[in-house]
Amino acid sequence: MRKEILKNLAAPLRRNGRLEGALRLTRLPGRGTRVIHQLVIPHATYSPWWADDEFQTTFKEVQSFTLVDVYRLYELWTLVEQLKNVDGDILEVGVWRGGSGCLLARKAKLVGLETTTVFLCDTFAGVVKAGAQDSEYTGGEHSNTSAEIVRRLAARLGLDNVRILEGTFPDETAHTIESGRFRLCHIDVDVYESARDVFEWCWTRLSLGGVVVFDDFGFHDCEGVTRLVTELATRADVLFLHNLNGHALLIKRPQNGA
Ligand SMILES: C[S@@+](CC[C@H](N)C(=O)[O-])C[C@H]1O[C@@H](n2cnc3c(N)ncnc32)[C@H](O)[C@@H]1O
Repeated sequence: MRKEILKNLAAPLRRNGRLEGALRLTRLPGRGTRVIHQLVIPHATYSPWWADDEFQTTFKEVQSFTLVDVYRLYELWTLVEQLKNVDGDILEVGVWRGGSGCLLARKAKLVGLETTTVFLCDTFAGVVKAGAQDSEYTGGEHSNTSAEIVRRLAARLGLDNVRILEGTFPDETAHTIESGRFRLCHIDVDVYESARDVFEWCWTRLSLGGVVVFDDFGFHDCEGVTRLVTELATRADVLFLHNLNGHALLIKRPQNGA
């Protein structure tokens, strides 16, 4: 029955480019030259997040504390395990109410990263450093949160591996981090300058094989981040991956590109 539904729903939509035809109606030129947006719906069907009980439990617990969708959250979840053998802590800048950050911390505990700290950094006063590079953000958005909300969520999930840093990162809080090494950095700050400053701080501290995830890369209201990642992707020590869920992944590789 379900197979029939999947076949009867997905196949005709795909046939003769009908889905593409409908999606084309959502096409929107961006502000930059050759920046084009359109609702992206890939045709794939494999959905492993439904078979991952630990993920489902955690997802239900954090869902109302996050602006991030299930596709991006599941990718963060799997990355923690993928990076089990890469040295360093985990950094998230742009925490809001703590959903994605606490999900990262829960997974770190589940895979036995006992000595790994998950740093959760936010102004808790909204977006900062919006500027001419950005398409919609002007500053102050997402201020409807507090460090206390995140602290309570972490406590409810039994997480003793998180450290919450309140203030603009890196300017006001990075100096309190003693750790010199990171395996994973999740940057979810919405605008060009903030994302650039976080990247520059963490890239030199990222282990080889470590990953920086830009949450906002694929979204029309965050074009400053799209622009920044496009610039960074040309670096010799970067392996760049555009995930169609909207994420950009920058994987650190040796300078010679090996
Ligand atoms: C879209 S929200 C983050 C969403 C969050 N990851 C979630 O799970 O829903 C963006 C956040 O970035 C924070 N922010 C932006 N720039 C920042 C910076 N330089 N330092 C610290 N926090 C920043 C804002 O305060 C805001 O809470």
